[in-house]
Amino acid sequence: MEKLNKVSLCAGVLVSLLTICAAVDTIAANQTLKDGDTIVSAGDNFELGFFSPNNSNNRYLGIWYKRISTGTIVWVSNKENPIRNTSGVFKLSSDGRLLVLSGGDTVIWESKSAYSSRVYPVAQLLDTGNLVVRDESSIDQENIIWQSRPSNDICVRYGLCGPYGTCSNNNSPACSCLQGFETKRPQEWFILDWSGGCRRIMSLDCNYGEAFNKISGMKLPDTRLNSWYNVSMTIGECEMACKRNCSCTAYASLDINSGCLAWFGDLEDMRENSGGRDLYVKISASRLTDSQSYKPMNKKVIKVVLSTSVSFLVVCLIVALYTWRKKKRSSILIRKG
Ligand SMILES: *[C@@H]1O[C@H](CO)[C@@H](O)[C@H](O)[C@H]1NC(C)=O
Ligand SMILES: *[C@@H]1O[C@H](CO)[C@@H](O)[C@H](O)[C@H]1NC(C)=O
Ligand SMILES: *[C@@H]1O[C@H](CO)[C@@H](O)[C@H](O)[C@H]1NC(C)=O
Ligand SMILES: *[C@@H]1O[C@H](CO)[C@@H](O)[C@H](O)[C@H]1NC(C)=O
Ligand SMILES: *[C@@H]1O[C@H](CO)[C@@H](O)[C@H](O)[C@H]1NC(C)=O
Repeated sequence: MEKLNKVSLCAGVLVSLLTICAAVDTIAANQTLKDGDTIVSAGDNFELGFFSPNNSNNRYLGIWYKRISTGTIVWVSNKENPIRNTSGVFKLSSDGRLLVLSGGDTVIWESKSAYSSRVYPVAQLLDTGNLVVRDESSIDQENIIWQSRPSNDICVRYGLCGPYGTCSNNNSPACSCLQGFETKRPQEWFILDWSGGCRRIMSLDCNYGEAFNKISGMKLPDTRLNSWYNVSMTIGECEMACKRNCSCTAYASLDINSGCLAWFGDLEDMRENSGGRDLYVKISASRLTDSQSYKPMNKKVIKVVLSTSVSFLVVCLIVALYTWRKKKRSSILIRKG
Protein backbone atom coordinates (compact mmCIF):
# COMPACT_ATOMS: atom_id res chain seq x y z
CA MET A 1 0.00 0.00 0.00
CA GLU A 2 2.83 2.34 0.96
CA LYS A 3 4.59 1.46 -2.29
CA LEU A 4 1.48 2.37 -4.26
CA ASN A 5 1.28 5.71 -2.48
CA LYS A 6 4.88 6.43 -3.38
CA VAL A 7 4.24 5.54 -6.99
CA SER A 8 1.19 7.78 -7.18
CA LEU A 9 3.10 10.57 -5.44
CA CYS A 10 5.92 10.27 -7.99
CA ALA A 11 3.38 10.22 -10.81
CA GLY A 12 1.71 13.30 -9.36
CA VAL A 13 5.01 15.17 -9.12
CA LEU A 14 5.89 14.15 -12.67
CA VAL A 15 2.56 15.34 -14.03
CA SER A 16 2.86 18.71 -12.30
CA LEU A 17 6.46 19.07 -13.51
CA LEU A 18 5.36 18.33 -17.07
CA THR A 19 2.53 20.83 -16.72
CA ILE A 20 4.97 23.48 -15.53
CA CYS A 21 7.35 22.69 -18.40
CA ALA A 22 4.57 22.87 -20.97
CA ALA A 23 3.26 26.18 -19.65
CA VAL A 24 6.39 28.30 -20.07
CA ASP A 25 5.22 31.26 -22.12
CA THR A 26 6.24 33.90 -19.56
CA ILE A 27 9.38 35.40 -18.06
CA ALA A 28 9.20 36.88 -14.58
CA ALA A 29 11.14 39.93 -13.38
CA ASN A 30 14.87 39.25 -12.94
CA GLN A 31 14.51 35.92 -14.74
CA THR A 32 16.90 35.40 -17.66
CA LEU A 33 16.62 33.51 -20.91
CA LYS A 34 20.02 32.36 -22.16
CA ASP A 35 20.95 31.82 -25.79
CA GLY A 36 19.66 28.32 -26.53
CA ASP A 37 16.63 28.57 -24.24
CA THR A 38 13.22 29.52 -25.61
CA ILE A 39 9.69 30.23 -24.44
CA VAL A 40 6.67 28.99 -26.40
CA SER A 41 3.19 30.49 -26.64
CA ALA A 42 0.35 28.56 -25.00
CA GLY A 43 -1.12 27.19 -28.24
CA ASP A 44 2.32 26.19 -29.53
CA ASN A 45 2.17 28.69 -32.39
CA PHE A 46 5.14 30.95 -31.64
CA GLU A 47 8.54 30.62 -30.05
CA LEU A 48 10.86 33.30 -28.68
CA GLY A 49 14.62 32.98 -28.36
CA PHE A 50 17.96 33.65 -30.03
CA PHE A 51 18.47 32.66 -33.66
CA SER A 52 20.91 33.11 -36.54
CA PRO A 53 19.46 33.98 -39.95
CA ASN A 54 20.95 32.82 -43.21
CA ASN A 55 23.44 30.49 -41.54
CA SER A 56 25.39 33.52 -40.35
CA ASN A 57 26.95 33.52 -36.89
CA ASN A 58 25.12 36.68 -35.80
CA ARG A 59 22.64 36.10 -33.01
CA TYR A 60 19.30 37.93 -32.78
CA LEU A 61 16.51 37.73 -30.26
CA GLY A 62 13.23 37.18 -32.09
CA ILE A 63 9.87 35.47 -32.38
CA TRP A 64 9.15 32.86 -35.05
CA TYR A 65 6.48 30.40 -36.10
CA LYS A 66 7.17 27.31 -34.05
CA ARG A 67 5.61 24.88 -36.49
CA ILE A 68 8.14 25.54 -39.22
CA SER A 69 11.30 24.02 -37.81
CA THR A 70 13.69 26.38 -39.60
CA GLY A 71 11.63 29.32 -38.45
CA THR A 72 9.82 32.14 -40.18
CA ILE A 73 10.69 35.18 -38.15
CA VAL A 74 7.86 37.54 -37.21
CA TRP A 75 9.73 39.95 -34.92
CA VAL A 76 13.37 40.80 -34.19
CA SER A 77 14.52 42.96 -31.28
CA ASN A 78 18.20 43.75 -31.94
CA LYS A 79 17.93 43.98 -35.74
CA GLU A 80 20.59 46.73 -35.97
CA ASN A 81 22.82 45.32 -33.29
CA PRO A 82 23.53 41.60 -33.65
CA ILE A 83 25.44 39.64 -31.03
CA ARG A 84 28.57 38.00 -32.48
CA ASN A 85 28.66 35.03 -30.09
CA THR A 86 26.26 33.03 -27.96
CA SER A 87 26.72 35.13 -24.83
CA GLY A 88 23.31 36.79 -25.34
CA VAL A 89 20.78 36.92 -22.53
CA PHE A 90 17.16 38.11 -22.59
CA LYS A 91 15.83 39.54 -19.37
CA LEU A 92 12.91 41.41 -17.86
CA SER A 93 14.09 44.04 -15.40
CA SER A 94 12.15 44.62 -12.20
CA ASP A 95 10.97 47.98 -13.55
CA GLY A 96 9.37 46.28 -16.57
CA ARG A 97 11.95 46.87 -19.30
CA LEU A 98 12.89 44.05 -21.62
CA LEU A 99 16.66 43.80 -22.07
CA VAL A 100 18.96 41.97 -24.45
CA LEU A 101 22.44 41.75 -22.98
CA SER A 102 25.69 40.34 -24.31
CA GLY A 103 28.95 39.38 -22.68
CA GLY A 104 27.34 39.59 -19.24
CA ASP A 105 26.18 43.18 -18.93
CA THR A 106 26.42 45.09 -22.22
CA VAL A 107 22.93 46.29 -23.15
CA ILE A 108 22.29 45.44 -26.83
CA TRP A 109 18.62 46.35 -26.93
CA GLU A 110 15.96 47.50 -24.47
CA SER A 111 12.24 48.23 -24.67
CA LYS A 112 11.32 51.82 -24.02
CA SER A 113 8.60 51.32 -21.44
CA ALA A 114 9.05 52.20 -17.79
CA TYR A 115 7.04 50.55 -15.09
CA SER A 116 5.61 52.56 -12.24
CA SER A 117 3.38 50.15 -10.37
CA ARG A 118 4.20 48.24 -7.19
CA VAL A 119 3.06 44.96 -8.72
CA TYR A 120 5.50 42.52 -10.34
CA PRO A 121 5.87 42.64 -14.11
CA VAL A 122 5.95 39.55 -16.34
CA ALA A 123 6.69 39.17 -20.06
CA GLN A 124 4.37 36.80 -21.90
CA LEU A 125 4.49 35.43 -25.44
CA LEU A 126 0.89 35.33 -26.71
CA ASP A 127 -0.43 32.86 -29.25
CA THR A 128 -0.87 35.70 -31.75
CA GLY A 129 2.92 36.07 -31.88
CA ASN A 130 2.76 39.22 -29.76
CA LEU A 131 5.15 39.64 -26.81
CA VAL A 132 3.63 41.68 -24.01
CA VAL A 133 4.79 43.00 -20.65
CA ARG A 134 2.03 43.20 -18.04
CA ASP A 135 1.30 42.96 -14.34
CA GLU A 136 1.70 39.47 -13.04
CA SER A 137 -1.73 39.79 -11.42
CA SER A 138 -3.63 41.15 -14.43
CA ILE A 139 -4.90 38.62 -16.89
CA ASP A 140 -6.84 40.91 -19.23
CA GLN A 141 -5.19 42.78 -22.08
CA GLU A 142 -5.85 46.21 -20.60
CA ASN A 143 -2.87 46.45 -18.32
CA ILE A 144 -0.29 45.85 -21.01
CA ILE A 145 2.79 47.98 -20.36
CA TRP A 146 4.61 47.17 -23.55
CA GLN A 147 4.09 44.96 -26.58
CA SER A 148 6.03 43.86 -29.70
CA ARG A 149 2.94 44.26 -33.12
CA PRO A 150 0.25 48.07 -31.19
CA SER A 151 -3.03 47.32 -29.32
CA ASN A 152 -5.29 49.25 -31.72
CA ASP A 153 -3.95 47.09 -34.50
CA ILE A 154 -7.02 45.21 -35.75
CA CYS A 155 -4.93 43.22 -38.22
CA VAL A 156 -3.54 41.12 -35.34
CA ARG A 157 -6.88 39.36 -35.16
CA TYR A 158 -6.35 35.99 -36.73
CA GLY A 159 -7.80 35.53 -40.23
CA LEU A 160 -9.71 38.82 -40.03
CA CYS A 161 -10.02 39.23 -43.79
CA GLY A 162 -10.83 35.61 -44.69
CA PRO A 163 -9.21 33.54 -47.44
CA TYR A 164 -7.24 35.55 -50.05
CA GLY A 165 -8.04 38.71 -48.11
CA THR A 166 -5.26 40.93 -46.83
CA CYS A 167 -5.26 43.33 -43.91
CA SER A 168 -3.69 46.77 -43.69
CA ASN A 169 -4.19 49.32 -40.95
CA ASN A 170 -3.44 52.06 -43.50
CA ASN A 171 -6.59 51.21 -45.43
CA SER A 172 -10.22 51.81 -44.62
CA PRO A 173 -11.76 49.28 -44.52
CA ALA A 174 -8.69 47.37 -43.38
CA CYS A 175 -9.44 44.35 -45.55
CA SER A 176 -9.03 44.05 -49.28
CA CYS A 177 -8.68 41.23 -51.79
CA LEU A 178 -5.38 40.24 -53.35
CA GLN A 179 -4.95 41.34 -56.95
CA GLY A 180 -6.86 38.98 -59.24
CA PHE A 181 -9.43 38.22 -56.54
CA GLU A 182 -12.84 39.67 -55.70
CA THR A 183 -15.01 39.68 -52.59
CA LYS A 184 -17.00 36.51 -52.16
CA ARG A 185 -19.86 38.12 -50.32
CA PRO A 186 -19.96 41.87 -51.14
CA GLN A 187 -22.90 42.60 -48.84
CA GLU A 188 -21.03 41.27 -45.87
CA TRP A 189 -17.89 43.17 -46.75
CA PHE A 190 -20.01 46.26 -46.84
CA ILE A 191 -21.13 45.68 -43.27
CA LEU A 192 -17.51 45.01 -42.34
CA ASP A 193 -17.71 41.27 -41.89
CA TRP A 194 -14.78 40.06 -43.94
CA SER A 195 -14.69 36.47 -42.83
CA GLY A 196 -16.09 35.28 -46.18
CA GLY A 197 -12.91 36.44 -47.87
CA CYS A 198 -12.24 36.53 -51.58
CA ARG A 199 -12.36 34.28 -54.64
CA ARG A 200 -10.49 34.21 -57.93
CA ILE A 201 -11.88 36.44 -60.67
CA MET A 202 -10.54 33.93 -63.18
CA SER A 203 -10.18 30.35 -62.03
CA LEU A 204 -6.84 28.58 -62.32
CA ASP A 205 -6.43 26.24 -65.22
CA CYS A 206 -3.27 24.20 -65.23
CA ASN A 207 -3.57 23.56 -68.98
CA TYR A 208 -3.43 27.21 -69.92
CA GLY A 209 -0.63 27.98 -67.51
CA GLU A 210 -0.32 30.33 -64.63
CA ALA A 211 1.60 33.40 -63.63
CA PHE A 212 2.68 34.70 -60.25
CA ASN A 213 1.74 38.04 -58.84
CA LYS A 214 4.47 39.39 -56.54
CA ILE A 215 3.27 41.16 -53.41
CA SER A 216 5.95 42.82 -51.29
CA GLY A 217 6.06 43.46 -47.57
CA MET A 218 3.62 40.71 -46.66
CA LYS A 219 3.12 38.90 -43.41
CA LEU A 220 3.01 35.48 -44.99
CA PRO A 221 -0.19 33.36 -44.95
CA ASP A 222 -0.74 30.91 -42.12
CA THR A 223 1.64 28.01 -42.61
CA ARG A 224 -0.29 25.61 -40.42
CA LEU A 225 -2.72 25.07 -43.30
CA ASN A 226 -1.42 22.96 -46.18
CA SER A 227 2.05 24.40 -46.45
CA TRP A 228 5.29 22.74 -47.42
CA TYR A 229 8.92 23.79 -47.25
CA ASN A 230 12.41 22.85 -48.36
CA VAL A 231 15.42 24.64 -46.91
CA SER A 232 17.84 23.97 -49.74
CA MET A 233 15.79 25.04 -52.75
CA THR A 234 16.46 28.35 -54.50
CA ILE A 235 13.64 30.79 -55.17
CA GLY A 236 13.74 29.78 -58.86
CA GLU A 237 13.35 26.11 -58.01
CA CYS A 238 10.55 27.11 -55.67
CA GLU A 239 8.68 28.82 -58.50
CA MET A 240 9.11 25.76 -60.71
CA ALA A 241 7.84 23.47 -57.96
CA CYS A 242 4.76 25.63 -57.44
CA LYS A 243 4.15 25.88 -61.19
CA ARG A 244 4.34 22.12 -61.60
CA ASN A 245 1.81 21.34 -58.88
CA CYS A 246 -1.73 22.35 -59.82
CA SER A 247 -2.84 22.69 -56.22
CA CYS A 248 -0.01 25.04 -55.27
CA THR A 249 -1.47 28.51 -54.64
CA ALA A 250 1.55 30.58 -53.59
CA TYR A 251 5.22 30.49 -52.66
CA ALA A 252 7.81 32.56 -50.84
CA SER A 253 11.43 32.21 -49.82
CA LEU A 254 11.86 30.56 -46.47
CA ASP A 255 14.69 32.73 -45.23
CA ILE A 256 15.65 36.16 -46.40
CA ASN A 257 17.23 34.81 -49.56
CA SER A 258 16.90 31.06 -49.74
CA GLY A 259 14.65 28.10 -49.16
CA CYS A 260 11.16 27.42 -50.41
CA LEU A 261 7.85 27.81 -48.64
CA ALA A 262 4.75 26.85 -50.64
CA TRP A 263 1.02 26.77 -49.95
CA PHE A 264 -1.46 24.23 -51.33
CA GLY A 265 -4.81 25.65 -50.33
CA ASP A 266 -6.57 28.86 -49.38
CA LEU A 267 -4.25 31.63 -48.23
CA GLU A 268 -5.29 32.86 -44.78
CA ASP A 269 -4.22 35.57 -42.37
CA MET A 270 -2.15 37.87 -44.56
CA ARG A 271 -1.29 41.49 -43.93
CA GLU A 272 0.42 44.16 -45.97
CA ASN A 273 2.95 46.84 -45.11
CA SER A 274 4.16 44.78 -42.22
CA GLY A 275 7.82 45.04 -43.21
CA GLY A 276 7.41 41.43 -44.21
CA ARG A 277 8.40 39.42 -47.21
CA ASP A 278 7.68 38.90 -50.89
CA LEU A 279 4.78 36.56 -51.54
CA TYR A 280 4.18 35.14 -55.02
CA VAL A 281 0.48 34.33 -55.54
CA LYS A 282 -0.52 32.08 -58.41
CA ILE A 283 -3.09 33.58 -60.77
CA SER A 284 -4.40 32.59 -64.18
CA ALA A 285 -1.89 33.55 -66.89
CA SER A 286 -4.66 34.96 -69.05
CA ARG A 287 -5.22 37.63 -66.42
CA LEU A 288 -1.68 38.88 -66.78
CA THR A 289 -1.41 38.65 -70.56
CA ASP A 290 -4.91 39.65 -71.65
CA SER A 291 -3.77 42.94 -73.13
CA GLN A 292 -0.33 41.97 -74.38
CA SER A 293 -0.98 38.54 -75.75
CA TYR A 294 -0.49 38.04 -79.44
CA LYS A 295 -2.29 35.05 -80.85
CA PRO A 296 -1.17 34.20 -84.40
CA MET A 297 -4.28 33.59 -86.52
CA ASN A 298 -4.98 30.11 -87.67
CA LYS A 299 -3.74 29.61 -91.28
CA LYS A 300 -7.06 28.09 -92.34
CA VAL A 301 -8.92 31.12 -90.98
CA ILE A 302 -6.58 33.44 -92.88
CA LYS A 303 -7.22 31.50 -96.14
CA VAL A 304 -11.00 31.63 -95.71
CA VAL A 305 -10.96 35.35 -94.86
CA LEU A 306 -8.66 36.16 -97.78
CA SER A 307 -10.57 34.15 -100.38
CA THR A 308 -13.91 35.52 -99.19
CA SER A 309 -12.74 39.12 -99.44
CA VAL A 310 -11.16 38.55 -102.87
CA SER A 311 -14.35 36.97 -104.23
CA PHE A 312 -16.43 39.78 -102.70
CA LEU A 313 -14.19 42.33 -104.43
CA VAL A 314 -14.46 40.53 -107.76
CA VAL A 315 -18.25 40.36 -107.52
CA CYS A 316 -18.39 44.10 -106.66
CA LEU A 317 -16.22 44.89 -109.69
CA ILE A 318 -18.41 42.86 -112.06
CA VAL A 319 -21.57 44.50 -110.75
CA ALA A 320 -20.03 47.96 -111.02
CA LEU A 321 -18.84 47.29 -114.59
CA TYR A 322 -22.25 45.95 -115.60
CA THR A 323 -24.17 48.95 -114.23
CA TRP A 324 -21.66 51.36 -115.74
CA ARG A 325 -22.05 49.79 -119.22
CA LYS A 326 -25.84 49.72 -118.87
CA LYS A 327 -25.89 53.40 -117.87
CA LYS A 328 -23.59 54.33 -120.80
CA ARG A 329 -25.75 52.43 -123.30
CA SER A 330 -28.96 54.02 -122.06
CA SER A 331 -27.46 57.50 -122.28
CA ILE A 332 -26.39 56.78 -125.90
CA LEU A 333 -29.94 55.63 -126.64
CA ILE A 334 -31.37 58.82 -125.11
CA ARG A 335 -28.99 60.98 -127.18
CA LYS A 336 -29.86 59.02 -130.30
CA GLY A 337 -33.57 59.36 -129.50
C1 LIG B 1 14.93 42.00 -8.98
O1 LIG B 1 16.23 42.42 -8.57
C2 LIG B 1 16.24 43.71 -7.95
C3 LIG B 1 17.67 44.09 -7.68
O2 LIG B 1 18.48 42.99 -7.54
C4 LIG B 1 15.38 43.66 -6.68
O3 LIG B 1 15.36 44.92 -6.08
C5 LIG B 1 13.97 43.24 -7.05
O4 LIG B 1 13.18 43.09 -5.89
C6 LIG B 1 13.97 41.93 -7.81
N1 LIG B 1 12.62 41.69 -8.29
C7 LIG B 1 12.05 40.49 -8.23
C8 LIG B 1 10.66 40.39 -8.73
O5 LIG B 1 12.64 39.51 -7.81
C1 LIG C 1 22.04 36.36 -46.54
O1 LIG C 1 22.87 35.84 -47.57
C2 LIG C 1 22.91 36.60 -48.74
C3 LIG C 1 23.82 35.90 -49.75
O2 LIG C 1 23.71 34.52 -49.64
C4 LIG C 1 23.38 38.01 -48.45
O3 LIG C 1 23.34 38.79 -49.62
C5 LIG C 1 22.50 38.65 -47.39
O4 LIG C 1 22.99 39.91 -47.04
C6 LIG C 1 22.45 37.77 -46.14
N1 LIG C 1 21.53 38.33 -45.19
C7 LIG C 1 21.82 38.45 -43.89
C8 LIG C 1 20.77 39.07 -43.05
O5 LIG C 1 22.87 38.07 -43.41
C1 LIG D 1 31.16 37.48 -26.56
O1 LIG D 1 31.41 38.78 -27.08
C2 LIG D 1 31.50 39.80 -26.09
C3 LIG D 1 31.72 41.12 -26.80
O2 LIG D 1 30.96 41.21 -27.96
C4 LIG D 1 32.63 39.48 -25.12
O3 LIG D 1 32.65 40.45 -24.09
C5 LIG D 1 32.43 38.11 -24.51
O4 LIG D 1 33.53 37.75 -23.71
C6 LIG D 1 32.23 37.06 -25.60
N1 LIG D 1 31.89 35.81 -24.96
C7 LIG D 1 32.35 34.63 -25.38
C8 LIG D 1 31.89 33.43 -24.62
O5 LIG D 1 33.11 34.54 -26.33
C1 LIG E 1 14.85 19.91 -51.35
O1 LIG E 1 15.34 20.49 -52.54
C2 LIG E 1 16.57 19.99 -52.98
C3 LIG E 1 17.03 20.82 -54.15
O2 LIG E 1 16.02 20.92 -55.13
C4 LIG E 1 16.40 18.50 -53.31
O3 LIG E 1 17.64 17.97 -53.72
C5 LIG E 1 15.90 17.78 -52.08
O4 LIG E 1 15.64 16.43 -52.37
C6 LIG E 1 14.64 18.42 -51.54
N1 LIG E 1 14.26 17.81 -50.29
C7 LIG E 1 13.02 17.42 -50.03
C8 LIG E 1 12.79 16.84 -48.69
O5 LIG E 1 12.12 17.52 -50.84
C1 LIG F 1 1.02 18.70 -55.01
O1 LIG F 1 1.45 18.96 -53.69
C2 LIG F 1 0.64 18.36 -52.69
C3 LIG F 1 1.13 18.84 -51.34
O2 LIG F 1 2.50 18.67 -51.18
C4 LIG F 1 0.71 16.86 -52.84
O3 LIG F 1 -0.13 16.26 -51.88
C5 LIG F 1 0.26 16.47 -54.23
O4 LIG F 1 0.44 15.10 -54.42
C6 LIG F 1 1.06 17.22 -55.28
N1 LIG F 1 0.55 16.95 -56.59
C7 LIG F 1 1.32 16.68 -57.64
C8 LIG F 1 0.64 16.43 -58.92
O5 LIG F 1 2.54 16.63 -57.53
